[in-house]
Amino acid sequence: MSVRWAQVSDAPVVARLLHDFNTEFDTPSPGPAVLTARLEELLPDGRTTALLAGDPAVAVALLTSRPNVWYDGPVLLLDELYVVPEHRGRGIGTALVERLVHDARAAGVALVEVNVDEGDVDARRFYERHGFASGDVAPDERAFYYSRELRPPLG
Ligand SMILES: CC(C)(COP(=O)(O)OP(=O)(O)OC[C@H]1O[C@@H](n2cnc3c(N)ncnc32)[C@H](O)[C@@H]1OP(=O)(O)O)[C@@H](O)C(=O)NCCC(=O)NCCS
Repeated sequence: MSVRWAQVSDAPVVARLLHDFNTEFDTPSPGPAVLTARLEELLPDGRTTALLAGDPAVAVALLTSRPNVWYDGPVLLLDELYVVPEHRGRGIGTALVERLVHDARAAGVALVEVNVDEGDVDARRFYERHGFASGDVAPDERAFYYSRELRPPLG
């Protein structure tokens, strides 16, 4: 399965996969057209990047990069990772993560972060298998992710 970095012209493909991800998991989505327009603005800047697997693409990894005072190099957030249902369990997610870690290391990235829900045990096993660790300092000292929405995400 070929894995490549998305170009700006791939914005509709990335948007469609992100929309399908949210739809599958009953999460609101502004729709492929709005997502395409946002990606066409974000992708040229280089801080938002996406990996696509397959041709036509059946999986996407969406990433954002930011500086961080504690590291000599950028920090990457894996915002989204999605393999369409009929292609899961065949190593495509692994290929995306391996490519992103390989290229990130070569680019001097210091840290890759991802947020996973506690109950999403399959995804947690997947990330742990690929070297990701939770921020827990002890079994009875769990790390939590908090957020406070200041504006609605849609529209
Ligand atoms: C999680 C996901 C990206 C993994 O990609 P994949 O191509 O299925 O993964 P691989 O074939 O490389 O590796 C298989 C492993 O992925 C994990 N996995 C998670 N959800 C899975 C699913 N629905 N089907 C198969 N494997 C899944 C398991 O750890 C599995 O290993 P196992 O043999 O221990 O069960 C993909 O299953 C997916 O898109 N799931 C739904 C969306 C999601 O959960 N995204 C991550 C949110 S943080």
